[in-house]
Amino acid sequence: MRPQADPEWASVFALYDQIGQTYSTTRRPDRRISAAILDALGEVSSVVNIGAGSGSYEPVETVAAVEPSGVMIAQRPRGAPPAVRAIAERLPLRDDCADAALAVLTVHHWSDVAAGVAEMRRVARRRMVLFTWDAQAFASFWLLSEYLPAAAETDAALAVPLAVLSELRPGAEIRSVPVPHDCTDRFGAAYWRRPAAYLDRRF
Ligand SMILES: C[S@@+](CC[C@H](N)C(=O)[O-])C[C@H]1O[C@@H](n2cnc3c(N)ncnc32)[C@H](O)[C@@H]1O
Repeated sequence: MRPQADPEWASVFALYDQIGQTYSTTRRPDRRISAAILDALGEVSSVVNIGAGSGSYEPVETVAAVEPSGVMIAQRPRGAPPAVRAIAERLPLRDDCADAALAVLTVHHWSDVAAGVAEMRRVARRRMVLFTWDAQAFASFWLLSEYLPAAAETDAALAVPLAVLSELRPGAEIRSVPVPHDCTDRFGAAYWRRPAAYLDRRF
């Protein structure tokens, strides 16, 4: 069965095929976050990028991208590494096929986080890097608790607690990456010093 026809996948495709239409224009990678991700990857010569979207934060060493949404794949830059339409929980990749597996701002969408992390481990010879947000820190963040309570609820429902990820990879290093006040990647917390943007429909 083609993945697109698999009912288990239907909602995964639908979400970013719908909300990802303008992703590459509104979600420009931030250079400071990019540097932190590259630093965490270290010296690697091949990377698979899981939940790769339109290719933000994709290091030059990337040999393959995995992404369920056709709309997101269509926004990848010309010449970007090949993208396969698939999900983290079932990677169509060989064991140990790359030095590192990378997953940026995607784990909160996975239906089975444990399966996705196990798959990353299976395909990565040396390193796995996951970039996500700290739900605990976010829950007490003044912006959400005092001004955006509805967004706080959505966030709480989506977030994958760091404790859950730590249990899946005991001993994994956790690094903090602060969100700069002028962050160019317009994810949820990016506008903390530009709050008017939360009222702008374009974002
Ligand atoms: C917020 S975007 C992040 C994209 C990119 N990594 C970035 O940093 O810009 C989340 C991405 O995860 C993808 N995604 C959703 N469910 C997924 C799954 N089960 N496995 C892999 N990717 C998934 C979405 O289609 C979307 O492209």
